Amino acid sequence: MFVLLFGLGSRVDVGRALYEKHCVSCHYPDNDLRPPAPPLEMYRTTVEYTLKIMREGVPGSCMPRFDSLKEKERLAIARFVANMNRNVKVDTPPDLVRRGEMVYYDVCAPCHGDDGSGSTFGDDVPPPPDFRQFNPLPEQTIRILNEGIPGTAMYSFRDILSPEDKRAVAIYILTLFGKGENTGTDGKVR
Ligand code: HEC
Ligand code: HEC
Repeated sequence: MFVLLFGLGSRVDVGRALYEKHCVSCHYPDNDLRPPAPPLEMYRTTVEYTLKIMREGVPGSCMPRFDSLKEKERLAIARFVANMNRNVKVDTPPDLVRRGEMVYYDVCAPCHGDDGSGSTFGDDVPPPPDFRQFNPLPEQTIRILNEGIPGTAMYSFRDILSPEDKRAVAIYILTLFGKGENTGTDGKVR
């Protein structure tokens, strides 16, 4: 038991240390990169998605590929990132979800896809993230709706949507997390 706890603890520490070494130089709050590096502590995500992004980078942004890291190191970082909000609890009241779903289909789905995957967006860069695997907490979505992401297709909805609609769609987006085929073989989101 003692050994197990110690083992787990040091694995998290390795992931954190690698994350601080390779990622925090860009991924800090309010960085002024264009497009900005999202503050990962404001997102739920999976190990697979983080690994994919580290392997492929994001076209149209300065998010690099991390080919030079060992697979073991990438995995430790991805686990650390995916664990940041793994157990976060957010309320999704059904009436708000229904309202948010309507806003989403009307306004967001043409770019972000009915399923949230962003796969209908086309070739413009940077592409929208896959909300099923990279899922902003409501506060972050509302912030992005107000500010937009300058230099990308994601424009500001500050004066287009009411505060209630912004909140509703932010809550609806939460319900997309883990949908689709991108869960592990045991059905659990990673
Ligand atoms: C040189 C700056 C830079 C470094 C270093 C960097 N990133 Fe990024 N990252 C970015 C930017 C910019 C974006 C936003 C891309 C976009 O607009 O879609 C991003 C986006 C991401 C995303 C979200 C992908 C998406 O679909 O939007 C993840 C996950 C991510 N980075 C993980 C990491 C990890 C893990 C590391 C460390 C191993 C790292 N990044 C290091 C700049 C960086
Ligand atoms: C015209 C196309 C378009 C429309 C309409 C649109 N988006 Fe986006 N959105 C994008 C693109 C492209 C990105 C990725 C920008 C980037 O990577 O920097 C994005 C990014 C985002 C992000 C940030 C994700 C991240 O990686 O940090 C959120 C949240 C978001 N959109 C929410 C919405 C919501 C909610 C709506 C509807 C009210 C909406 N968007 C409508 C194109 C669009």
